[in-house]
Amino acid sequence: MAEYKKADEKVIEDLKGIVGEKNVITDKSKMIDYSHDEFTLSDIAHMPDAVVKPASTEQVSKVLKYADERRIPVTPRGGATGLCGGCVPCLGGIVLSVERMNRIREVDVDNQMAVVEAGVTLMDFYESIESAGLFFPPHPGDESAMIGGLVAANAGGARAVKYGVIRNYIRGLEVVLASGKIIRPGGKVMKSSAGYSLLNLFIGSEGTLGIVTSAVIQLMPPPEASRSLIIPYDDLACAIETVPLLIKRKILPMAVEFIPKEVIVRTEELLKKRWPSKMGNTYLLVILDASSEDEIDKLSEKVAEVSLEKGALDVFVADSPEKQKLVLDIRSKIYESIKEDNVETLDIAVPRAEIADHVKKVMDVQKKYGLWLPTYGHAADGNVHTHIMKVRYDKGKTVPLPEKEWKEKLEKVREELFKDCRDRGGTISGEHGIGLVKKAYLSYVVDEEEISLMKGIKKVFDPHFILNPAKIFD
Ligand code: LAC
Ligand code: ZN
Repeated sequence: MAEYKKADEKVIEDLKGIVGEKNVITDKSKMIDYSHDEFTLSDIAHMPDAVVKPASTEQVSKVLKYADERRIPVTPRGGATGLCGGCVPCLGGIVLSVERMNRIREVDVDNQMAVVEAGVTLMDFYESIESAGLFFPPHPGDESAMIGGLVAANAGGARAVKYGVIRNYIRGLEVVLASGKIIRPGGKVMKSSAGYSLLNLFIGSEGTLGIVTSAVIQLMPPPEASRSLIIPYDDLACAIETVPLLIKRKILPMAVEFIPKEVIVRTEELLKKRWPSKMGNTYLLVILDASSEDEIDKLSEKVAEVSLEKGALDVFVADSPEKQKLVLDIRSKIYESIKEDNVETLDIAVPRAEIADHVKKVMDVQKKYGLWLPTYGHAADGNVHTHIMKVRYDKGKTVPLPEKEWKEKLEKVREELFKDCRDRGGTISGEHGIGLVKKAYLSYVVDEEEISLMKGIKKVFDPHFILNPAKIFD
């Protein structure tokens, strides 16, 4: 492992000289928030020596050049909505928070592209492009996530089945390298065959190759019509098996989520809102879009037909914007509703046709270990969120388990599910990244030769290993 220096008093004074006195935090009580992300096991949290909040790309460049010369680790941080410790400063040093870099530099209506800084939240981004009459298709759940983090993780979300993930919308980046040099791969172009795609190398690199300071993002015209269908089933397998049949019948929804009733009930309680159906044990949420109301009527009928053929109990329609917002709100807040008892959120992705059997395996593992493993996810992407909880679930109630017991079981459950994922040709991370907590398992799904190439690339971009060290691999 590389030798690192601490950010001592002299360093802190120098950093204040770069970003301004009030934009360097060293007060421990204020740094606690910067010591972790949304991953819930508190023993992965780690205090930085200082939090630095630059306001411009030039300031980021000066901070990195300074830290690189002195071998001080720098951990970039956006909205910290990550679920695998990706922005935890596990070796101390500097947390570089992009929160002040929150300008939408441009919404270019003619080219349908936006140029936004890394600290813009998804919520603000949606708002500004929607007011310009444009649409950004991906919807990674948490709207307080920031653009820099979304690029770093190659975030996905519910609409990937039809519209793809963040990578499919990033046309250009501004990146500060460890040396402080600024590069701008890509631009406002739809195509590029000019050499290796450095652009794509940075997307999903979790801040280990450079710090993204802004992105050129492709937008689209909004769909003319959209509708959400809530489809209850008694049987989870039938719900999931509906998905390949929909695709076979040439219906490509914008999103297909599967959600068990028990997590819906918890989310209803949290939000004090009511899901449109009480029937069954499990639901499919199918979101459709189309170019006219007529077309969406026809699509909805077809979805209903296929679902009923697969054993659906009924089909509920959310057609008004308010009803659609209600179901999307409930879906987006599932994680919030269970996070109190949650230890780890998996985001295994398997080939779509394997998803039903993988979820059956999850249910077997749940039974075997007596640990609640609420599982929902992006059914049409094969992307499954299993939550490993520190409780068991019994007749609608959660029962706490002793820490020693759930910690032991956590390792075993994780390993069994990652092995099942590997055996099905899947990946251990569909959209959240590897970060700190999944790196021991990377070799389950990426072979040694590929990991060794990744390490070689890391060395080229960050020869002193100062950028987000100890993430993805050691
Ligand atoms: C979601 C997050 C957990 O889909 O990825 O809600
Ligand atoms: Zn997700």
